[in-house]
Amino acid sequence: MNGQLDRIRRESLKQKVVTAEEAASWIQDGMTLGLSGFTRAGDAKAIPEALVKRAQKESFKVNVFTGASLGHDIDKLFTEAGIVNKRLPFQADATMRKGINNGELLFVDHHLSNTSELIRGGVLPQVDIAVLEAVAIAEDGSIIPSTSIGNSLIFAEHAQSIIVEINVAHSEEWEGVHDIYDPGVLGDREPIPLKHPDERIGTYGIPVDPDKIIGIVLTEEYDSFSTIDQPDEETEVMAGHLLQFLRSEITAGRLTKELAPLQSGIGSQANAVLHGLLDSEFENLEVYSEVLQDSVFELIDAGKVKSASCTSITVTEERMDILRNNLSFYKEKIVMRPQEISNHPELIRRLGTISINTALEFDIYGNVNSTHVTGTKMMNGIGGSGDFARNARLAIFVTKSLAKKGAISSCVPFVSHVDHTEHDVDILVTEQGYADLRGLAPKERVELIINRCAHPSYRQELWAYYEEAALRGGHTPHILEKALSWHIRLSETGTMRESKEEVTQS
Ligand code: COA
Repeated sequence: MNGQLDRIRRESLKQKVVTAEEAASWIQDGMTLGLSGFTRAGDAKAIPEALVKRAQKESFKVNVFTGASLGHDIDKLFTEAGIVNKRLPFQADATMRKGINNGELLFVDHHLSNTSELIRGGVLPQVDIAVLEAVAIAEDGSIIPSTSIGNSLIFAEHAQSIIVEINVAHSEEWEGVHDIYDPGVLGDREPIPLKHPDERIGTYGIPVDPDKIIGIVLTEEYDSFSTIDQPDEETEVMAGHLLQFLRSEITAGRLTKELAPLQSGIGSQANAVLHGLLDSEFENLEVYSEVLQDSVFELIDAGKVKSASCTSITVTEERMDILRNNLSFYKEKIVMRPQEISNHPELIRRLGTISINTALEFDIYGNVNSTHVTGTKMMNGIGGSGDFARNARLAIFVTKSLAKKGAISSCVPFVSHVDHTEHDVDILVTEQGYADLRGLAPKERVELIINRCAHPSYRQELWAYYEEAALRGGHTPHILEKALSWHIRLSETGTMRESKEEVTQS
């Protein structure tokens, strides 16, 4: 306990140490909570767990705002306890996903850079209590975050009160990784002074009025580890296509071997595709991303990546061990920022990122659906993919051409939900090949998308749709009454294929 108390460097705050149960008892029905946590990293742990226990005895509901998804099954436990009224801006838990799709709770799916603006502008309900994980509280009361920053700065600034969870499982050595910067209110804002991914423009800690800290809970629990699938044969082929494309950009004189700051989205596929850069000639790479997954650390170890900017670090257990044991080495290469800054459109455009995100499906003109299974069922959320795609130098979307053993084609006549319009999608990559859509009219895109990205077993049907649509004319030909017929067939028969036998053959 004494060693733990040393993490509270402001003497007057030491008396605010309470149990998680006591802190959780301050949370009232109808409140809005701002919890730290981004893709399982740096999440508040003890108080959410104590809140779930409280729900066994009394009934209440709260709004839960976070950076992104949480670890420790918190979203699952929250859903099972039935205590969430509204959740935003991102989640990735199967039970909560079901709850959202069954209407048990409300979910707001907005661009991750936008939560701060909506809170700062008073659009969202006031955050009553912010619960923030930290490695320490500094002498001036500022909060030193742990393995993510996410929305913790804006929560700390705008919440009525703050509870800090000091997690001693994280080393104090994390101090110095963070770069806390608030751009200020809209309409009265200077340009954000960041010109390179490795620059620092802010402070190490989150500045707060110490009087706002109403309680401190001491914890000792690791983050939940990443559960992504390792690269497989198909993702390796996809990575190969991406490398081929990047090489063609170098030949055309638009990129050098150092490429441009890289962003790679969450999930197994984006991680695997980035992993492919390990066996490439590219070097001195910079990363300007939202989450750092295993592949970025592999690239750092291989001497390929010289610096990486992020808002969270979410890695497998094995990778976290290496990171913990060599934190001083990695610390020199990593800067962690609030998600408003890691995902800021101004910076993404200025830095000219190469952004690689994952699609669930894309259509013959290049619209991308990343969030809604068959147009209605929420998967995880748009996350930061829209922040990056709209503003990147190169907006690349990757996905395997088939899902569910071939019952689903990722390439469809018309996406059943649009997250990234054809205007924001530059390159599509599947294990079949890549399509560079830049500067192409819709009719020019069709050939590339079908012939290079769709699975061969669906190409004939895609062409049949397009040829019939083309007879009707228009700039972007469609047969509106058939545009979603593949999704309708899927929900009625379990496959997008006209003949069921084809499913097992592919
Ligand atoms: N229709 C229905 N289901 C589909 C599908 C489609 N067209 N394409 C894929 N799926 C299913 C897969 O079968 C898999 O299902 P399972 O969990 O039952 O096995 C699931 O979707 C996830 O696919 P997976 O291949 O494991 O992909 P992933 O881990 O790379 O995740 C996304 C892909 C799209 C779900 C994920 O990247 C995401 O949520 N993206 C949106 C947010 C984002 O891009 N954030 C990054 C910004 S920095």
